[in-house]
This record gives sequence, structure tokens and C-alpha cells, in this order.
Amino acid sequence: MGKKYKSPHMNRREFTTIMMSFIGSIMGAMIGIPIIDYVISPAIKTRKTDDWVSMGPLDTYPIGTPTLFTYTRTVVNGWERSTNSYGAFVIRKSENDMGVFSNICTHLSCRVNWHEDIQQFVCPCHDGRFDINGIVLSGPPPRPLDVFEYKIEDGNILIHVKE
Ligand code: FES
Repeated sequence: MGKKYKSPHMNRREFTTIMMSFIGSIMGAMIGIPIIDYVISPAIKTRKTDDWVSMGPLDTYPIGTPTLFTYTRTVVNGWERSTNSYGAFVIRKSENDMGVFSNICTHLSCRVNWHEDIQQFVCPCHDGRFDINGIVLSGPPPRPLDVFEYKIEDGNILIHVKE
């Protein structure tokens, strides 16, 4: 009885099986990689945390009266998307002297309001009070109102916001 001879070369069936596996792998990668990227990429992207927000033309803000500007920001964190509203007071003391303050109280983050009659920012939560420069006058706030960095471009005020 002789030994059954096995050719070192593959036959048509083996070749077809290998080719089908190879093509299947390529197709799986073509479909799978974009799906994996879609699922994972939001979690590994670094989110932008600061930006310049336009507050509109400077000349729409009257001199002498703090004027509130409100804006919203949308933050994408992984798959979570949140939109929050914020406020800032533009205070023009003269043509060339101005400041931009946050309207968030430095005590427990309530929103302060400008009271023209007493020339103070008043926090409705615990009666914290600030002067027109954001300096604490009375109440529990531990520090002045936060100040925004700003710039003027083409007659518009832009504030630098950080998240
Ligand atoms: S949160 Fe403003 S005084 Fe407490």
C-alpha cells in the first residue's frame, strides 16, 4: 500500500476558502472601523473649553449704565450635549474706559441684578451687594464679581469665555 500523496500546492477549494476569508476580513474592517470610530471618537476628543463671544456693537451699550448681555454656549462632552445660558454686564464709564463683569455672584452663583436707584449689583439669594466696579459692599460674597477679558474688533465687543 502506498502512501496517499498530498500536493504541496493548494487545491481550488482551499484557495477559494482562503480568498473568501480574506475578502470577508476586508469587508468587515471597512464596515467595522467606521462604526468603532463613530462610537469611540466622541469620548476621546478633547473639547474646546474657551472661546471669544461677540456681544455686538460697542455703541449699543450706553455710557454710565451697566447693561446685561446674555448668551448661550453649547458644550459637547463625549455623547452629552448641554446648552447653558450666561450673562455679562458691560460697564462703559466713558468712551475709552469700560469693563465687562460676570453676572454670577461669587458666593453661591446666583445671578446678580443691577439696581439703578441704589447704583449697586444686588444678589437676590443672600442680599450680597457689589458696587459698579464689581467690588463687594456687603453680604457673604467672598470676592468681587469675575471680570471678562475683552477686545474690540470692527466696533464689536468680544469677551473671552472659559468653561
Ligand atoms: S449667592 Fe449671592 S449672596 Fe449668596
